[in-house]
Amino acid sequence: MPFKLPSGAIVPIPAFGTGTKWYKPGDPAISRPVVDALVSAIKAGYRHIDGAEVYGTEPEIGVAIKETGVARDQLFVTTKVISAISDPRKALEASLAKLQLDYVDLYLIHSPFFGKETHGLTLREAWDVLTELKREGKAKDIGVSNFAVADLKQLEGAEEKVAVNQIEFNPYLQNQTPGIVEYSQSHDILIEAYTPLVSLSARATGGPVDEVVNRLATKYGKTAGQVILKWVVQRGIIPVTTSADPARQASNLDLSGFELTAEEVEQINQAGAKKHVRVYWTDKYE
Ligand SMILES: NC(=O)c1ccc[n+]([C@@H]2O[C@H](COP(=O)([O-])OP(=O)(O)OC[C@H]3O[C@@H](n4cnc5c(N)ncnc54)[C@H](OP(=O)(O)O)[C@@H]3O)[C@@H](O)[C@H]2O)c1
Repeated sequence: MPFKLPSGAIVPIPAFGTGTKWYKPGDPAISRPVVDALVSAIKAGYRHIDGAEVYGTEPEIGVAIKETGVARDQLFVTTKVISAISDPRKALEASLAKLQLDYVDLYLIHSPFFGKETHGLTLREAWDVLTELKREGKAKDIGVSNFAVADLKQLEGAEEKVAVNQIEFNPYLQNQTPGIVEYSQSHDILIEAYTPLVSLSARATGGPVDEVVNRLATKYGKTAGQVILKWVVQRGIIPVTTSADPARQASNLDLSGFELTAEEVEQINQAGAKKHVRVYWTDKYE
């Protein structure tokens, strides 16, 4: 089933991330490896690019889009605001200039960790500015990232509904914060999963999910990465992944031609629940 936003836009999957291994805050020089990875990913068929002002890679996204020549309306570009959250309008205008774009497809408040005392505005006030930016067409859809249930509740009753909550999600972290997936999904808030492939990384390999993932990879003739990303999708969640390797870029994109059974989805759920791995926001959440 396609992932659809309130604007009617279909969200292409998976998203190609420009944070994590590409993160270069405070460095204005264009990084050729970041541009090359993006060009390779877009040429491979990725149409969803996940950016953020804090990653420092918005200029590379702009250059890569120009270099590939793919039409703007064929791309789905996300960016996020956090360091510049005290003025979300100015932040989006700065992001658009770096991206060399007139609008983003999705604009996210990157984290809920700010307030009147620290940045001069509440979550709700920041959200109301994003709502204006949506009305003006500068952001086709708007959402949040790393929000817990209590944060989302602060935006209930707002003029514009939260379209997306991008959170850390993988077999070893199936709820970034208590009840967040169920709450979001039952309120028609699409979840995006970052760090979906952590069980394949040195940080978590050798854990309880490997046996089931490898068995399913053999059964379907797919890679472990494809099985995990498919599991994410079948949980009703949009994967946000990245790779410098063209072969991995291609295989992570190719999630068609197989379907896990409900029982196999449950096997990954159960095996993953036996271990806990959190990579981000460890100072905020256990
Ligand atoms: N909203 C937030 O707070 C937040 C936080 C973190 C991340 N994000 C977003 O999510 C994106 C993805 O995060 P992530 O990098 O942690 O995602 P990930 O997909 O879990 O991990 C990507 C890493 O796994 C490796 N990899 C990729 N495909 C693989 C495969 N098939 N098999 C084995 N290893 C594979 C890649 O290394 P190679 O390059 O060597 O392939 C890469 O270093 C970020 O770039 C960013 O856009 C958002």
